[in-house]
Amino acid sequence: MQSKPIRVAIAGLGFGAEFIPIYQRYPGANLYAICQRNPEKLKQVGDAFGVPHRYTDFDELLQDPAIDVVHINTPIPDHGIQSIKALKAGKHVACTVPMATTVDECRQIVELVKATGLTYMMMETVVYSREFLFMKELYEKGQLGRIQFLKASHQQDMDGWPDYWPGLPPMYYATHCVGPVLALTKSQAEYVSCFGSGTIRPGLQEHYHSSFAVESTHIKFRDSDLCAHVYRSLFDTARQYRESFEVYGSEKSVEWPLIEGDPLVLHTAKRPEPEIPEAVHAPDYAHLLPEGIRGFTTGGVYDADEHRHLSFIQGAGHGGSHPHMVHELLSAISNRRRPFPDATASANITCVGILAHESALKGGERIYLPAFTLAG
Ligand SMILES: NC(=O)c1ccc[n+]([C@@H]2O[C@H](COP(=O)([O-])OP(=O)(O)OC[C@H]3O[C@@H](n4cnc5c(N)ncnc54)[C@H](O)[C@@H]3O)[C@@H](O)[C@H]2O)c1
Repeated sequence: MQSKPIRVAIAGLGFGAEFIPIYQRYPGANLYAICQRNPEKLKQVGDAFGVPHRYTDFDELLQDPAIDVVHINTPIPDHGIQSIKALKAGKHVACTVPMATTVDECRQIVELVKATGLTYMMMETVVYSREFLFMKELYEKGQLGRIQFLKASHQQDMDGWPDYWPGLPPMYYATHCVGPVLALTKSQAEYVSCFGSGTIRPGLQEHYHSSFAVESTHIKFRDSDLCAHVYRSLFDTARQYRESFEVYGSEKSVEWPLIEGDPLVLHTAKRPEPEIPEAVHAPDYAHLLPEGIRGFTTGGVYDADEHRHLSFIQGAGHGGSHPHMVHELLSAISNRRRPFPDATASANITCVGILAHESALKGGERIYLPAFTLAG
């Protein structure tokens, strides 16, 4: 651990506010500043959590030499440019998903991280959820056998969400399904082929000149016999919110439930048919965390409308992922190692989505990931 506390600033206080109490309780860190444009909301959140430094302007925040890390939770179109600015200002960067909305912004971030030696982590919740950690444990212990296929989906009805959402091509926000399929075996995507399906209503299509209701992508893994299938919908498709991730192995497979909250299904090969499936709940992985933040795996949810902290709601907080992401980020900075996903891995995951949409517009044409997204 570094002797001096790591001073963290959070920009964007909707989803971003959920991380304030985690940083405040993290040993060796200091939640130093918050930033959002509306001064009244800034004051409300700052007073509720006793945050000492507050900014309404992101560029001004970056001028503060005391800040070591900026955790960006602003609207999607700002992620790329704000990450670039923060790295240029000499800050370590954590950014909510996706990394950026263009391949060129992803490239600039990867190059800046290489040039500066600063840390960058995309804060992908799914790869730190208890369900993912459970499947990872099975994989690492060899219980799945040989991995044969991976599959993930993210479906959500985004009607009524802020102005950058309407009509967003589904694959532009694909990290919650691309992240886990690549992360389990620490693989990289080599190329993608995506088909668009269905049509969203005309008023939605004009925002991004995109009409597909569903985008369905196959990802070929680099230097591997594996491929994965991911699909997404955001508008005009009836489906309960679901971020699913499934893995098929030669010995065991894990499937996601059809209805949120139901248990996972663990299949074991070579048993009598009725005994193959088994309902299982993923255990909690709080023991992997420093003691002060273990309680946040089962909740620690902040209610942005009420400006209060709703503590310890069972199952909340994206599969208990929030404290795990904070721990990964801060321990990587302290120990001068790369976090997962680092800039290169984040670019590979994010560019799968951006290029998949391009593939869909070209009728499913195969598109290769650029070299800067491939490690080693
Ligand atoms: N599971 C996940 O990983 C997950 C879950 C929820 C949200 N998110 C991501 O978090 C981000 C924010 O989502 P949200 O629902 O809180 O959005 P929101 O629109 O409710 O909040 C955005 C916040 O950013 C602030 N902001 C906007 N522009 C800014 C700027 N230029 N400088 C400083 N602050 C600025 C706003 O004041 C507000 O506090 C989105 O990119 C979303 O994709 C990720």
